Amino acid sequence: MADEKAKLLIKGKTIDLDVLSGTLGPDVVDVSALFKEGCFTYDSGFNSTAACESKITFIDGEKGILLHRGYPIEQLASKSTFLEVCYLLLNGELPNKQQEEQFRRTITHHTMVHEQIHYFFNGFRRDAHPMAIMVGVVGALSAFYHDTLDIKNPEHRTISALRLIAKMPTIAAMCYKYTIGQPFMQPLNRLSYAENFLHMMFDTPCAESHINPVLARALDKILHADHEQNASTSTVRLAGSTGANPFACISAGIGALWGPAHGGANEAALSMLHEIGNVSQVGKYIARAKDPNDNFRLMGFGHRVYKNYDPRAKVMRETCHEVLEAVGAKNDPLFKLAMELERIALEDDYFVEKKLYPNVDFYSGITLSAIGIPANMFTVIFALARTVGWAAQWNEMISNPYRLGRPRQLYTGPKKRDYIGITDRS
Ligand code: CMC
Repeated sequence: MADEKAKLLIKGKTIDLDVLSGTLGPDVVDVSALFKEGCFTYDSGFNSTAACESKITFIDGEKGILLHRGYPIEQLASKSTFLEVCYLLLNGELPNKQQEEQFRRTITHHTMVHEQIHYFFNGFRRDAHPMAIMVGVVGALSAFYHDTLDIKNPEHRTISALRLIAKMPTIAAMCYKYTIGQPFMQPLNRLSYAENFLHMMFDTPCAESHINPVLARALDKILHADHEQNASTSTVRLAGSTGANPFACISAGIGALWGPAHGGANEAALSMLHEIGNVSQVGKYIARAKDPNDNFRLMGFGHRVYKNYDPRAKVMRETCHEVLEAVGAKNDPLFKLAMELERIALEDDYFVEKKLYPNVDFYSGITLSAIGIPANMFTVIFALARTVGWAAQWNEMISNPYRLGRPRQLYTGPKKRDYIGITDRS
């Protein structure tokens, strides 16, 4: 893959560096041997640094392209089910009919969690954020699947991935039920993946509700399955590179996802819309977002990689319309406000120049809210959907030669100095 060489001239010495080409995307300069020359590279925030080789997901942020195993997200969103996408991410190819049925059956038969897991919930306050509960409970799964799990065994890795995908909706719904004080609902094998989640979220032992197929389809379309080397996925890979238990690695990823700059943006976007309140206030908030002395940002706008319309946002916008129509909330003032905010921001010089477009979470928050899901559950649902991506990326890393992830630093602290006894310090 080393087609050409790059030359680095440093301290009067020229160093040849391999330039590697992938199947798509920019070439990368292999700087891994630079440390032998006594220097490191510096790239705060990993703007220009590829930390791994991967065959799973490709993003072209300038053109607004997102491919899973080569398939455009728009085609997957309109033609496949979430479980087909899971199979694709894990195995590299879309399943045939028989493989799809087998995969669906396997997932369906792993949805229950160990009875002992139920007791973990009692340790949390009822008002705990569901993400706090999820980080803890998914990490706790490592206590159930540890001694018998050999991460070097491909079959064990596959079983771990299947368990995670199957159990995440159950755990996510349990996080919700716990915080509202309702009994946990057991999964039902006759329901689809998305229907089952809605059942565990909204049914009670006293009443089973009718599951609206439009809402189930919208959930099935949640487009967060994978997004290459983002903050949470890189966290999973970094934790995984130590040889840690995969359930603990995924829990680390959930922690990284929680922040408002990443998966917490959907919850933050909805809070922002509530704060703006009505269309007449949009101008004031746009001005605040542009003011360098004000740290207010338009949540759900901008992306580290996309400098064009996030292709997931396009699909999610349509899904959002379908859901609002299905629940009779087409004239929902919040959605109207969101549309106005989007219109003004897309025309505003500041947002145009900085290429700040609405991202997927601008619409996913409104969609989930219309489905009846409370805002503090949005990031939990993002985590549920992203679990397959984390599992696929972790598995890809462990299946190939890899090294412990260990970044370097530019040290700017004090130089070596001698210890001063406490009585002699000023
Ligand atoms: N509102 C106002 N200004 C913004 C925004 C925004 N949402 N996002 C970026 N900018 C400005 C920023 O102030 C900076 O201006 P300047 O060049 O004058 O300093 C410029 O645009 C570049 O921003 P940055 O913070 O250096 O870019 P980044 O790549 O580090 O940040 C981001 C990306 C997603 C953290 C940021 O756009 C942001 O905070 N957006 C709001 C949060 C959000 O919606 N996050 C969800 C991302 S999508 C879900 C996912 O994939 O995780």
